[in-house]
Amino acid sequence: MPTKELVTKVWIDPGCIVCDACENTCPEVFDVQEDTCLIRPPAMEAAFTRPLTQKIAEAAEECPVDVIKFEVQAVELSDAEAAKIFSADSGAPAAAAEAAAPAAAPAAPPAHAAPAHKPAAAAAAAPAVKSHSPLAPAADLGDPGLQALLAAARTRGGQAGISKARGGLISGDPLRTDPDNLPPDARYAKTLEEARKIKKDGVTRREAMSFSSVALAAGWATFAGALGIMVGPAGLSFSMPRALEEPDPRVRVGPLKQYVEMKPGEVNEDYKPKGIWMIREEDRVSALNIICTHLGCIPNWLPNDRKFLCPCHGSGYYFTGINFQGPTPRPLERFRIVIEDGIVVVDKSKKFQQELGQWDMPESHLAV
Ligand code: FES
Repeated sequence: MPTKELVTKVWIDPGCIVCDACENTCPEVFDVQEDTCLIRPPAMEAAFTRPLTQKIAEAAEECPVDVIKFEVQAVELSDAEAAKIFSADSGAPAAAAEAAAPAAAPAAPPAHAAPAHKPAAAAAAAPAVKSHSPLAPAADLGDPGLQALLAAARTRGGQAGISKARGGLISGDPLRTDPDNLPPDARYAKTLEEARKIKKDGVTRREAMSFSSVALAAGWATFAGALGIMVGPAGLSFSMPRALEEPDPRVRVGPLKQYVEMKPGEVNEDYKPKGIWMIREEDRVSALNIICTHLGCIPNWLPNDRKFLCPCHGSGYYFTGINFQGPTPRPLERFRIVIEDGIVVVDKSKKFQQELGQWDMPESHLAV
């Protein structure tokens, strides 16, 4: 029976720049949202990811910031299962699996998990995987990050290209500085800075990946600059985004009465867009931080299961924020909560951690 190495677990490390490349390549697994990429819930099962081994490896290879990680296991397949899996993508054999474990290989030892990073076998298989990709960029561009960004832009119908005259640069400022004169981390920082700037200017991530949108943003920047010259610094301050201004960490969440009336065990999600879950325990009202304490994804509240479940790696928390499953090492955090002028105010600048014994401190909750 042939043995193949198949993906049994996939996850996203911090640092996603929401470029869409992974979702374009493997939409069954990757769900790129406004601020990060999530693993779709079905893809947390090995049975789901195994047939998608080739596409997952391809998406990881194309990721410009290398945050897609996966584990593989050597799996013995029946002929029927092998035929099903290897016909999953245009009828072509899964290149990653083929390269990782040739069909002639002897039966593998009991299945084992590869180290928790992109496995060497899969990495070695990457060129073969890329040869199946319609997005495969020209091999002579050098920087794989630029290659993947351009591939993503073209997929959206954009016209991003490489200007050989400029030494292999993406057209559009501020990337026109010769990257050959920059260290790799500085080039990455410039890419990230440009993506953030475009988002702050109100351009969506999907638009941002097309060259025409970059040109549009550059046009507005030119217009704003010209306006600044005409009306002076005072006028310029009105025409430019106030990117350095921190959002107010204090959120007014309404009168205490509405939280007192909640049943113990209830979760109020009205302020989730502001990063807060309001919860009611027997004797108190508290404000939970919605950020998963594993690697920073945003869990979902499942009212029927009475738990928060993180879509990234499956961490689970009770309604109180106490963790009980998955890789997270500690409970969710709670924000400072006070009453001002009869209104409950959540102060996100101050957090309380259960593992440090801080949940009984003053202002970590409101006694009811
Ligand atoms: Fe990993 Fe939530 S970020 S489980």
